[in-house]
Amino acid sequence: MRIAFIGDIVGRPGRSIIKENLKKIKDEHHIDFVIANYENASHGFGLTSKSAAELFNTGINVMTGGNHTWDKKEIHTLFDKYELLRPHNYPDEVSGTGCKIYEVAGEKLAVLNLMGHFSMPMTDNPFRCAKETISDLHEQGVQNIFIDIHAEATAEKRALLMMCKSQVSAIVGTHTHVSTDDLQIYEGTGYLTDIGLTGCRDNVIGMSAKIPIQRFLTGLPGRFDVPDKCKSILQMVIFDISAGKCTKAFKIKKFNDGREFQTEAWID
Ligand SMILES: [Fe+2]
Ligand SMILES: [Fe+2]
Repeated sequence: MRIAFIGDIVGRPGRSIIKENLKKIKDEHHIDFVIANYENASHGFGLTSKSAAELFNTGINVMTGGNHTWDKKEIHTLFDKYELLRPHNYPDEVSGTGCKIYEVAGEKLAVLNLMGHFSMPMTDNPFRCAKETISDLHEQGVQNIFIDIHAEATAEKRALLMMCKSQVSAIVGTHTHVSTDDLQIYEGTGYLTDIGLTGCRDNVIGMSAKIPIQRFLTGLPGRFDVPDKCKSILQMVIFDISAGKCTKAFKIKKFNDGREFQTEAWID
């Protein structure tokens, strides 16, 4: 199977560039299944019902969350309506789930969403949660496993790779909104520390630069805002998966002016 992952979609510019390009990219690269992260999809904070409908209409199959999952209260009602996950290491009594199994190209694929600890809300241990969930999935005969690790610290993401290598098909980091340059296949596991945002590329992590600059100059609070118009970017990583192992991976960066860049994964 060939799956694709899009990281943090930030506001309208992120939704628009997906709407304009995803169907074409899916056809061109024969992609079977698309996963995307929704935590900043509605004006930078959380997800509304309207944005969910809009995004699922572009060809996305399932969306993962993060610390901003809860910013729009209606999220609690959306888990039953759409294929939406939230980090799996939130306690059981929190609404939604962070792991679901899908049928893709005649095989089973599990999508697991986890959240790191450094500079994040308090949750259960993501590493213990990963170990238990992966072992449960293997017991159920599910070999193809994709993980979105939503975390600030690169070390947490690297540690997850070293702990789960050969046991899961791919691990991609989200949350920082800035992409890293380490796309690789390590002992059968596709890996990228952070995929970076899909949204404005000429600002500060997808938000208008004015407020962050003022905040850093003065130390005073200010609310981040997504610009209506900007230079935007769509960032997507594509994995070929067979019998639970990643066999090929590459990343596509598409700019709103039509430029496109591709990077191949190195294999170790
Ligand atoms: Fe984010
Ligand atoms: Fe986040």
